[in-house]
Amino acid sequence: MTVPALFQPLTIRSVTFRNRIWLSPLCEYSAEQDGVPTDWHLAHLGSVAIGRAGLVMTEATAVNAVGRISPHDVGIWTDAQEATWKRIVDFIHSQGVAAGIQLAHAGRKGSTAPGWGADYDDTTPPEKGGWTTVGPSTLAFGDYAAPVALDRAGIDETIADWVDAAKRALRAGFDVLEIHAAHGYLVHQFLSPIANDRTDEYGGSLENRARLLLQIVRAVREVAGDDVPIFVRVSATDWTPEGLQSADIEQVAAWAHDAGADLIDTSSGGIQSGIPISTGPGYQVALASGIRHTAEVPVNAVGLITDPHQANDIVESGQADAVMLGRELMRDPHFAFRASTALGYKLPYWPEQYERAQP
Ligand SMILES: Cc1cc2nc3c(=O)[nH]c(=O)nc-3n(C[C@H](O)[C@H](O)[C@H](O)COP(=O)(O)O)c2cc1C
Repeated sequence: MTVPALFQPLTIRSVTFRNRIWLSPLCEYSAEQDGVPTDWHLAHLGSVAIGRAGLVMTEATAVNAVGRISPHDVGIWTDAQEATWKRIVDFIHSQGVAAGIQLAHAGRKGSTAPGWGADYDDTTPPEKGGWTTVGPSTLAFGDYAAPVALDRAGIDETIADWVDAAKRALRAGFDVLEIHAAHGYLVHQFLSPIANDRTDEYGGSLENRARLLLQIVRAVREVAGDDVPIFVRVSATDWTPEGLQSADIEQVAAWAHDAGADLIDTSSGGIQSGIPISTGPGYQVALASGIRHTAEVPVNAVGLITDPHQANDIVESGQADAVMLGRELMRDPHFAFRASTALGYKLPYWPEQYERAQP
């Protein structure tokens, strides 16, 4: 039987992904204020592992306390967080599925409320568990409180937190480390002229604005060794002439690849509120394909990929090496079962417990 492109395994460094259907990071805002994942995370991520995605990626997981988006975000800067992630990773592995962690720092978009809260789009005050945010500059995101600009020591400490988080993630058993450099969070804030008006070596030219990302990639690669894949999630455009353009990010992707990143997870937007994005099925696939062909680095596409044939075509046509699905996997964590049937492929690794449900 021919294996459809979507179901062909992919090996990056020492990790073989059983297929190209990957879970996109999805913030659940379901931790207590200690950043420790809960049974919700085990069930949410576990259900996608049972559903046989090729990679289960965690939500944005903060590298330190001020790097959270909301007080209910998960993190990986304490022993309790690390131990709880290990339990979740062990379950994902028990299903034969690779586990990835998205390491994140929210920067000036931190200290907000959970995504569904009445206060969303507003800064959470200290008495409700909020904190003073940091950023490259004092430029605020929309109506949020202005951040404190990181000085050199603050930048060095942040990189050290990234390294420490990567070490913890490896101890917890994660197979893939993803650096979140998209959606207007800290690393993207440094990259984009919209949030970065520094005049030192971290501001001005694209090379300077990319410095933080590249330092993080190099530092994480050092602890990851040669075996562990590193992904970088980028916003491939800011969707405004004042911001990052796709050509800028193609250049940044090539630099990140040289610095030790293996795959560019290609998203877009998020640097400032009020910038319209015209979305539609697969609306970011062309951005991913541009990076793949210009920077000559593997990519995954994400964004309104919901249909098995659409997903298969993206991989088969060489526009991306894999697809990430977010909301579709929330609606149907067993999408891979449905997709294999739709593509006329008998999934050889159906869970035994669900065998009687095979079509
Ligand atoms: C509830 C929700 C939470 C999200 N959380 C994250 C996140 O933690 N990190 C991230 O990079 N993207 C996050 N995203 C963006 C998704 O990963 C994905 O890129 C986006 O939803 C588009 O893909 P989709 O159309 O398949 O959902 C989130 C999206 C949603 C809907």
